[in-house]
Amino acid sequence: MKSIVFSVVFLGVIALFGFTKIDSSVQVKSAPTVAITSEIPENIQTIIDKSCVMCHNTESQNVKGKTKLNFDKFKDGYSVPKQISKYMDIADEVKETKMPPSKFIEKHPEKKLSEEERNALVAWAENMAKQLGGE
Ligand code: HEC
Repeated sequence: MKSIVFSVVFLGVIALFGFTKIDSSVQVKSAPTVAITSEIPENIQTIIDKSCVMCHNTESQNVKGKTKLNFDKFKDGYSVPKQISKYMDIADEVKETKMPPSKFIEKHPEKKLSEEERNALVAWAENMAKQLGGE
């Protein structure tokens, strides 16, 4: 009986150390690099695809829009500080209903964000900024 207890504790300690090790290596790996876009939750990706990418990705014809914000560059291009500021910009613009632009919504009312979509997008962008070390 004693030896069973001992081995359980022993295995527990090994597991603990093992997990700690895995944990810290993940942190070290993910902190300074990028590749966050691939982890965008599906509901958020759907919102961005519906109402943002046509002006804010590499293929966009909207030069002004994609110069200010290019979602493709979160994967490869924006430095971490830049990503933080872009996520904060996204949160601000969407919160204040400045994006998508009202002229665009007049022409394409189906692209308008519902309050729920707006809140989800803002919460996600704020959270991403926080995760990267922003406010
Ligand atoms: C019809 C095109 C269009 C759509 C759709 C659109 N934007 Fe924009 N966006 C622009 C343009 C153009 C600018 C640049 C505005 C400027 O410089 O005054 C811009 C600027 C921005 C900026 C940067 C603001 C700044 O001052 O740096 C953010 C952030 C942004 N958009 C987020 C979004 C998000 C998020 C969505 C989707 C919810 C979205 N946009 C949808 C055209 C668009």
